[in-house]
Amino acid sequence: LKTRNLGPFTVSTVGVGAMQMSVEGRPPYEQSAQAIRAAVEGGITFIDTADCYHIGADEVGHNEDLVARALAQLGSSANHVVVATKGGKRRPGDGSWHVDGRPDYLVSACEASLARLGRDFIDLYQLHEPDPRVAFEDSLGALQTLHDQGKVRALGISNVTAEQVTRAKLILGDCLVAVQNRRSAATYGVDHVVALCEALDLTFLAYGPLGGKGAANEDATWQAFRATALETALSGQQVALASLLHQSPAILPIPGVTRPETARACAATGSLALDPGFEARLHAMAESRRVAAIAVADERDPGAPDG
Ligand SMILES: NC(=O)c1ccc[n+]([C@@H]2O[C@H](COP(=O)([O-])OP(=O)(O)OC[C@H]3O[C@@H](n4cnc5c(N)ncnc54)[C@H](OP(=O)(O)O)[C@@H]3O)[C@@H](O)[C@H]2O)c1
Repeated sequence: LKTRNLGPFTVSTVGVGAMQMSVEGRPPYEQSAQAIRAAVEGGITFIDTADCYHIGADEVGHNEDLVARALAQLGSSANHVVVATKGGKRRPGDGSWHVDGRPDYLVSACEASLARLGRDFIDLYQLHEPDPRVAFEDSLGALQTLHDQGKVRALGISNVTAEQVTRAKLILGDCLVAVQNRRSAATYGVDHVVALCEALDLTFLAYGPLGGKGAANEDATWQAFRATALETALSGQQVALASLLHQSPAILPIPGVTRPETARACAATGSLALDPGFEARLHAMAESRRVAAIAVADERDPGAPDG
């Protein structure tokens, strides 16, 4: 099985995100649990969650709880699975999302996440999004404290600009191991943050790699990808995930799954043994799309995400 380094961890080249299992339109609990188990049984060893993946105001941590329970059902065979969670965002129950990067809040949110995940420490704790009302350095200071207290093993930041990555690296040093930004295989974003991650030896966790819930099912979007792999039985979405891997050694896609079938498909993508010609075609397509994207791109704030 192919692996990638993520700070102190070695994980599968493709992870999975569990968000859709707990937000609006979520499936029944048992289907979600099956999807998580299928991902791990297929070889995936990285799962992304967050305390704010829930609907009602009274169900904070719904997704962390679900991930923890599904992994517990797998027993010791899930001990090697790296679980990443996030703090710094809240959902009051009316469908909206709000950032909250106050240091005291982050500390209490992390402690609650640790209790829900039921582990000795949180593998990777990520600031969900910088809070414009709080100095970025203050939010990062809270993460550093949590790390120094042994509550988290490694740190990440999400929804950040290249400038924020640079500042975070200066403050957190080697404790910072990951940056999680939106990056769809179909649209391509600005490359600055990925390039910076490569230079700083940080893992770029590509969220929304299939464009989100609706876009992921638009087969027309993925035909171009599939066309680079006609001789294989891969779906366009699998080829798209593989193309993200080929864009940069720093990228680790975290597709969201709610069904065992898609979980297994993602796991298979992460362990593909690609023939050289296939790799070259993927690379050529990735390069041409990257050039097109750079021509129209400018450095921009990644914007407020949903999730
Ligand atoms: N940091 C942030 O602010 C932030 C924001 C958004 C998301 N995220 C993270 O990123 C993860 C993924 O994002 P996302 O769920 O919004 O977008 P996504 O991964 O682009 O799309 C999810 C959709 O892709 C489908 N899918 C996954 N693998 C597939 C495959 N191999 N073949 C066909 N369809 C496939 C899923 O289908 P099924 O549901 O049928 O399985 C689901 O409908 C989230 O779970 C979360 O962990 C982070």
